[in-house]
Amino acid sequence: MNVLVIGSGAREHALAWKLRQSEYCDKIFVAPGNAGTCEFGTTACIDINDFDELAKFVTDFDIMMIVVGPENTLVEGIHDYFLRSEYLKHILVVGPTKAGALLEGSKDFCKSFLKKYNIPTARYRAFTEANYRDAVEYLKNHTYPVVIKADGLAAGKGVIIAQNLDEALYALEDLLRNKRFGNASSKVVIEEYLSGIEVSVFILTDGKDYVLLPEAKDYKRIGEGDSGLNTGGMGAISPVPFVDEVFMQKVKDRVILPTLQGLQAEKIPYTGFLFIGLMSINGEPYVIEYNVRLGDPETEAILPRIKSDLFEMFRALHDGSLGSFKLEVDPRTAATVFLVSGGYPEGFEKGKEITGIENVPQDVLVFHAGTKLVDDKLVNNGGRVITVTALGDTMDEALAKANSAAEAIKWQDRYYRHDIGFDLKRLEVK
Ligand code: AMP
Ligand code: GLY
Repeated sequence: MNVLVIGSGAREHALAWKLRQSEYCDKIFVAPGNAGTCEFGTTACIDINDFDELAKFVTDFDIMMIVVGPENTLVEGIHDYFLRSEYLKHILVVGPTKAGALLEGSKDFCKSFLKKYNIPTARYRAFTEANYRDAVEYLKNHTYPVVIKADGLAAGKGVIIAQNLDEALYALEDLLRNKRFGNASSKVVIEEYLSGIEVSVFILTDGKDYVLLPEAKDYKRIGEGDSGLNTGGMGAISPVPFVDEVFMQKVKDRVILPTLQGLQAEKIPYTGFLFIGLMSINGEPYVIEYNVRLGDPETEAILPRIKSDLFEMFRALHDGSLGSFKLEVDPRTAATVFLVSGGYPEGFEKGKEITGIENVPQDVLVFHAGTKLVDDKLVNNGGRVITVTALGDTMDEALAKANSAAEAIKWQDRYYRHDIGFDLKRLEVK
């Protein structure tokens, strides 16, 4: 069967790498891909948000499965588009329809869903410009820090943690009045700040049954010690040492099951990944957010630990046999480090030659994100550029290998965090 992977990040490079290992996968295409994805699949230079163009490509190349990486394409309704057409509806799309994607596409929808189905989460209220004054009053009476979120998709930049009323009022004005994220911030969610340790849990679900994938922890801040601006993610660790059976049972009972029951009660069909961002507060899980896709860089740490055939898992998703799918997982620890362009997540220069990938040991996986080939020269072409993932019997071993591989890859002003996993090491010592 021919498969199309949609996206251009290291997540999609890792998906193509993993699918390539399946004997059931014939041709793999990646749209739009990057300089690394062509190692495992043919690059399809098409506009991924032009569904007519995508449909033509899928028909021309006899593609039977589409694996969607990024959220925008799902929120824009790629799955609905294929289901609507007599000629395309048999194609297996891994990713929810628009209705399911709203769990990520609207924070207000996500929070009201969590509340309705009694899933533990931070207390909140939603406001639009029409009730701006109420929002101001609400902030005046709130405890600090407080969290203010743009309702819609904002490329990971729509969450502000305000330390005091001044910062909160500034954020409110910026989002709601100045429409910092356009329509995505015409509504905001104001919620209680949760203090704990974060972990990301992933399932693949058909809306009824699910397969629990390995969990991961990502590192969102640009600076060491979790300081500075938020990024798409600077590294990841899987498994996460504090996630034991007791915690995971709570997540299943209090979060995963009520989520699936809620989707069924709302008559929202769902076939795809669900990424549940959790805060563990003294061992109790609270939902921070849902994402309707895999995480990046979490995927680069999770997929190397999955021994099962990914293609077979996707087939089980569509033929109703996910409930009996037995996932085989490598018990070792995977550590992923993201190499980024100096200046990211603010301004940075592109087009610098990347060298040293050939010096990375064979057993370390290199996945590309913002890379491009210019006259056979590999150059940086985005903020987040390359990930390296190493497996080890301990977290320290995995990290030592990943960090030394990161050091081997160079370009002018490249930057990476040397302290991925620092907080988990502290927990291990206690
Ligand atoms: P989100 O886009 O909702 O995942 O938020 C991005 C990041 O902001 C999360 O990964 C958390 O680190 C942080 N965050 C979001 N909501 C809260 C909250 N209620 N309390 C504490 N931190 C939060
Ligand atoms: N690494 C966080 C995300 O993919 O949303």
